[in-house]
Amino acid sequence: MILADIEKKLFTLHTKNITYQMKVDEYGFLLHTYYGAKIENEDMSKFIQYLWRGFSGHPYEMKNVEGNFNWSLDTLPQEYSTYGSGDYRSPALHVINTDGSSDCDLRYNRYEIIEGKPALKGLPATYGSSDEVQTLKIELLDKISGIGVDLYYSVFEQRDIITRNAIIKNGGKGKVWLERAMSMCVDYNIAPNFDLMTFYGRQLGEKFIERAPLRHGKTVADSFRGSSSSQRTPFMILCDNNASETQGDCYGFCLVYSGSFLSEVEQDQADQVRVTMGIQPESFRWELNSGDEFCTPEVMMSFSSEGLGQLSRNYHNIIHHNLTRGKYHLSRRPILINNWEATYFNFTEEQIYKIAEDASKLGIEMLVLDDGWFGKRDDARSGLGDWFVNTGKLPSGINKFCQKINDLGMKFGLWFEPEMISEDSDLFRAHPDWVLRTAGRQGMLGRCQFVIDMSRKDVVDYLYDSISSVLKSANIEYVKWDANRQIANAWTALLPAERQGEVMHRYVLGLYDLLERLTSSFPNILFESCSGGGNRFDAGMLYYAPQTWASDNSDAFARLFIQYGTSFMFPVSTMGAHVSACPNHQTGRISPLETRGVVAMSGTFGYELDTNLMTDEEKEIIKKQVETYKKYYDLINYGDYYRLSDPYKTDRYVAWMFLSEDKSKALVNYVQVRAYANAPAIYVKLQGLKEDSIYIVNGKEYSGRSLMKCGIYFGSENGDMIAKQIEVVEK
Ligand code: DGJ
Repeated sequence: MILADIEKKLFTLHTKNITYQMKVDEYGFLLHTYYGAKIENEDMSKFIQYLWRGFSGHPYEMKNVEGNFNWSLDTLPQEYSTYGSGDYRSPALHVINTDGSSDCDLRYNRYEIIEGKPALKGLPATYGSSDEVQTLKIELLDKISGIGVDLYYSVFEQRDIITRNAIIKNGGKGKVWLERAMSMCVDYNIAPNFDLMTFYGRQLGEKFIERAPLRHGKTVADSFRGSSSSQRTPFMILCDNNASETQGDCYGFCLVYSGSFLSEVEQDQADQVRVTMGIQPESFRWELNSGDEFCTPEVMMSFSSEGLGQLSRNYHNIIHHNLTRGKYHLSRRPILINNWEATYFNFTEEQIYKIAEDASKLGIEMLVLDDGWFGKRDDARSGLGDWFVNTGKLPSGINKFCQKINDLGMKFGLWFEPEMISEDSDLFRAHPDWVLRTAGRQGMLGRCQFVIDMSRKDVVDYLYDSISSVLKSANIEYVKWDANRQIANAWTALLPAERQGEVMHRYVLGLYDLLERLTSSFPNILFESCSGGGNRFDAGMLYYAPQTWASDNSDAFARLFIQYGTSFMFPVSTMGAHVSACPNHQTGRISPLETRGVVAMSGTFGYELDTNLMTDEEKEIIKKQVETYKKYYDLINYGDYYRLSDPYKTDRYVAWMFLSEDKSKALVNYVQVRAYANAPAIYVKLQGLKEDSIYIVNGKEYSGRSLMKCGIYFGSENGDMIAKQIEVVEK
């Protein structure tokens, strides 16, 4: 609900459990007054203290006002701070004016309440009907330069989510340049002892968690890589320093963007905290001509006073229901088998067919043909860009081969890496200028490939046509959209020197344009994004592709950490997870097939091996896994997710559960990670159950209360990586 008190110029946003408030002060500055647990309609501006802080100045107009030494933009909580205004903290906006100056004096102009939520032109964003979401637009204006900023706040009341973004408009007469245009700025004038949680990683090890107390100055989690990256994730949490899964105040910030980004938290001289998030300013400079506007990506903000678990569930719900789209976003996805770890580049049509044939007998529903089916592509050195079938490898061609797979009762999916180009490819030979690199320089190679210049519309048009023609040629029902390197040498032949700072963002806009066109032209295709695993696993990509291959590390032990970290922001329905062969190709680890199944089915379940090489006994296990996954599909994918342990705190076990919306049924997953002889018993405390209800567990009756206070004992086995799943059903 959005309340606008016109007289007081007070704007209060309420969700089920959250209140966010701001107020225009007597000078027209939009000050932030409150963000946290729900309060009544109280004017919270009384909590702002006007205190003297030396070396923090005030605007000229207060020259003769009593108490002016206590009024400073440098210390007051603001909704959208600007560089050059006397606020020395991280700005949300830095504009270079036509005359080269950086002043930007934003004052309140007007507001509007919109039922529903306007789309963000060219950018991914949450969506919702007017029953689900309301939007507040506040217009700020610098009267001298004509620069206007429209702040958007969309309130998803039932989901406890408020989204923010800003549109910067050049209402002046001359050209201006944006040096920094953040999506949001949140100031905490009453800041508790916050911990900051960020998510870092690397290829084969994505979304590890780092939690540390905030310190003075700026703490940054960002990417310069042209993609959101696994090195840093565009998501962070500020929480009470004693916050746990089930208690404590937690604030989440999730950027819906797939390019270079910046998340910055600054604790200032007065222990106040500012959070800014948006496009990475370091590789950004945007020219705005008179009348032009620039739209920043969206940030999904959420708050929970009941700990990290509830904060994650808020994100799971909004992403599942109001961000992902398409035929498959709320319908059952096929269990797939992918040939990559089975064959890598080295396959024949017959071999792939045999994999499909055998898998179909085990209940697997879709074959995905990975890298190597097109152009001249027997290793990573060539072929990218040549999106036509290599009949040497696939003599039947895509259409006939796809039919053969369909005749087995299976769907057929295909791998692409549309954003890349190999030097050894027909496409490169025809269009060397389509490579994203500086003219006259050779540029950086990554996995022997260049990035295509998707900041160019002609290139995006070409890619749309060439990929569409493959997709039209056969009954393709799934696309794996890979991207195996990040951007360097961002320079395009189509823009003048002074506009090269736009290339990184224009690339992302080109990518989104291509994805939008393809996903709407082929609405029946399930898209899975991938970037050598989870190197671009972000909320922006999920708008186009409802699932992302979470990591190229398919080892069940490694996945316990990767999927645990990912679960802080993304629901299991978005996390690609497959059972692969043993010893595992990335770690050499041997873990039981049952365990690999339990871990992979807490994601978009599939296989990545050759079942022909398995024993009959193993095939029986696979059949059972497929049945189990189908049986619990709704619970796993639409139920609530609870983390029951922290793998960073114990090496003995990891446990998590899925709970149905009505809390009548749960599936508890437990992996004994390491066996210890004569070890103390572990009781896993469940969460979210109805305290007074009776639940049946392994044939015995327990109250919800006792399962949550005392827990379930899973026994102790000899051996590492032993998994168990237990069903909990209300009597
Ligand atoms: C990286 C992906 O993450 C893998 O799953 C596989 O598709 C390879 N690329 C193919 O080159």
